[in-house]
Amino acid sequence: MQERQSIHGSWASRWTFILAATGSSVGLGNIWKFPYITGENGGGAFVLVYLACIAAVGIPIFMAEVVVGRRGRQSPIHSMRDVALEAGRDPRWSWLGWMGALAGFMIFAFYSVVSGWVLAYVFHTLNGTFNGAGSEAVGAVFDGMLGDPTTLTLWHTIFVAMVMVVLSRGISKGLEQAIRIMMPSLFVLVLLLLMYALTTGSFGRGVEFLFAADFSKLSWNSVLVALGHAFFTLSLGMGAMMVYGSYMPKNASIAGTAMIVAGLDTLVALAAGMAIFPLVFANQLDPGAGPGLMFVTLPVAFGGMPGGQVFGFLFFLMVSIAAWSSAVSLMEPAVAWMVERFPVSRNQACLVLGAGGWVLGLGALASFNIGADWLLFGMNFFDFLDFVTANLLLPLGGLLTALFVGWWLPARISRDEMSRDNAAGYSLWLLLVRFIAPVAVLVVFVANLYSKFAA
Ligand code: PFF
Repeated sequence: MQERQSIHGSWASRWTFILAATGSSVGLGNIWKFPYITGENGGGAFVLVYLACIAAVGIPIFMAEVVVGRRGRQSPIHSMRDVALEAGRDPRWSWLGWMGALAGFMIFAFYSVVSGWVLAYVFHTLNGTFNGAGSEAVGAVFDGMLGDPTTLTLWHTIFVAMVMVVLSRGISKGLEQAIRIMMPSLFVLVLLLLMYALTTGSFGRGVEFLFAADFSKLSWNSVLVALGHAFFTLSLGMGAMMVYGSYMPKNASIAGTAMIVAGLDTLVALAAGMAIFPLVFANQLDPGAGPGLMFVTLPVAFGGMPGGQVFGFLFFLMVSIAAWSSAVSLMEPAVAWMVERFPVSRNQACLVLGAGGWVLGLGALASFNIGADWLLFGMNFFDFLDFVTANLLLPLGGLLTALFVGWWLPARISRDEMSRDNAAGYSLWLLLVRFIAPVAVLVVFVANLYSKFAA
């Protein structure tokens, strides 16, 4: 059969795909979530389990998504439909694409709210708000911001607009150009912050915290958190890698690129930990502070250190860039679908979908103020979006993708897409995607639901 062409364009090279996919995966998950869940789950042992999840589950599912995307060359909804038809299967596999687009929308809503906080902190560090401030003062700034819907709406709106500007310019002029500037800047900033952490005198303690494995601190729940995070951090289970794969050149190796992206994502997560924990220890603060680690603990640390204002500013700038390039990929599956399905321009699709994501985000930000007691299943709307996506939709999406590619897709198709990869690698991947990944995800999925609703 003749190879399909994407109507949206394609990445200039394999390296552009790698940068774009890394831009999607490196985000708030790496810099905000990873350090705090590592802190909450006791450090080194958790990091080991997380690395195992990336290798045994994350990378194989990543590859499965790219196989379908590159074969289908369309939005996940249409790629799933057409690849299923090509495989002689039920076209209703497109529902998997629908579920992914929905998950992307829901993540976008709370992601852009937190990204808005980050933008506000860029502004605060520029202003010197945190210079010399203690935990109480910084806590008051953070709580004050959360309690004020107008301020939150302002930053949320700015962030949504930033994302939509990039998306509306399309693959080559928008995503690719943005990535070419953002990713090198991001890497330089990470290195600068690492060097700054080296000057604190507590670098060794930070590294020890991340890498000394104490398994007595590891609970069953930590394993669940580690696997869920592997999905979130690699942007899996919702079609982001599928849609980025649909713009990937045919001659690029899927396994090779998947390993580079997962490697870079892991490196940035570890580097973020190594940049953050030494500062926390140097200022006698608590590494287990939870979600407030980046928004309260860290500004206190910066506020008490020489050069803290400049490096605090660079830190939040780095987080903004990381969040921005990730949020773009949350919406691309839906934008691509709309352009394929209706006679609308990319601009119009972005306007409609951006407005939808913005409204949903208003609901999420109200959870911290006027909507604090609008509860769904005992959770506020923000926590509900986070729970339903990270614990239900992403694992389910990943599981179904692994099953589809491992069991329903004939080997001639997956083998053809992986023709650049050697035969032994292909067999290992098939083993992981057929057995190991689905079983691991299923166990975690069920255990997660059990712990939430039955315990
Ligand atoms: N991988 C992103 C992060 O770690 O922050 C979050 C994310 C982006 C999840 C895009 C899913 C996605 F499609």
